[in-house]
Amino acid sequence: MDKKRMYSAAQPTGKITIGNYIGAISNWVKLQHEYDCFFAIADMHAITIKQDPQELRRRTLELAALYIACGLDPEVCALYVQSNVSAHAELAWVLNTLTYVGEMERMTQFKDKSRKHADNINMGLMDYPVLMAADILLYQAEYVPVGFDQKQHVEITRDIANRFNNRYGETFTVPTPLIMKSGAKIMSLQEPDKKMSKSDENINAWVSLLDDRDTIIRKFKRAVTDSDNCIRAGEDKPGITNLLTIYSVFRGCTVEEAEKEFAGKGYGDFKLAVGETVADALAPIQAEQARLLADKAYLNGVLASGAERAFKAARKTLSKVYRKVGFYRGE
Ligand code: TYM
Repeated sequence: MDKKRMYSAAQPTGKITIGNYIGAISNWVKLQHEYDCFFAIADMHAITIKQDPQELRRRTLELAALYIACGLDPEVCALYVQSNVSAHAELAWVLNTLTYVGEMERMTQFKDKSRKHADNINMGLMDYPVLMAADILLYQAEYVPVGFDQKQHVEITRDIANRFNNRYGETFTVPTPLIMKSGAKIMSLQEPDKKMSKSDENINAWVSLLDDRDTIIRKFKRAVTDSDNCIRAGEDKPGITNLLTIYSVFRGCTVEEAEKEFAGKGYGDFKLAVGETVADALAPIQAEQARLLADKAYLNGVLASGAERAFKAARKTLSKVYRKVGFYRGE
């Protein structure tokens, strides 16, 4: 039987955090053999916020190397750069005509980013979810593994797909977001009621996949927790719960097992153990990323063949869409 399609992407902006890793990339790695996977580097989404062009180019390659270093196998899944496949922008245009301004204005991320970048509320920022819908629908993806913050965008993708199918006849697979029970929302180490975000100005709030060992340990030592000195997960203990989740992912155990391991121990010992565990797990990823970045020809080859695979799949959907909406193709 043919494998089901899976699509996801991450933006090559800022530092890639352990939130991105736990909520998204580590799950892609686990699922890559079970599904027919396309994983993109969303550089077109990235420019909705001002970017330095040279830095964007560099970060794009770094993210490609990081994907592979985290365990994505380019022989198994298509890894490519979004802007290398022009069909994304082309389909987004068509989908724009089925999307209402009001519903884009109501998107949580749009509202957050508009507040943060009040001097640059550009059309691309508002159109961001439509481009995301184009990404997903081009590949007829059934599943979209993402962290919790992207759920709303996958839901609007479903609405747009249904709208198109109703108006023009069955064309798109309606995708389902795949959100893990644990780790879909890794919280800030400084304000544990807020999502860990790579754009947070407080560098102690997040851990980058590329932070060095001492930095990682220092950030975990400074993590904000409560003061009752009991290591258990619970809604009343967001800081400790977050650390237990992070620990369990990098240690490869359950949160319950982690709770047992640290029963009776103090917060100081616990935070140090979390920091050391994360640093131990990230060291080989960092070494592998550095090794890959030294071989640019290999990375360019991976991205070129990924884009070719993506282009073939995308072209099929786009021609169908153009036919359905009535674009003249020479008859
Ligand atoms: P981005 O680059 O912000 O994040 C990449 C992935 O990481 C997840 N994530 C988190 N998960 C858990 N805890 C956190 N603190 C955390 N922070 C981020 C995100 O949910 C995401 O899955 N718009 C997308 C990229 C994109 C995309 C797509 C995703 C473009 N096209 C099509 C899916 C399908 C984004 O900006 O992700």
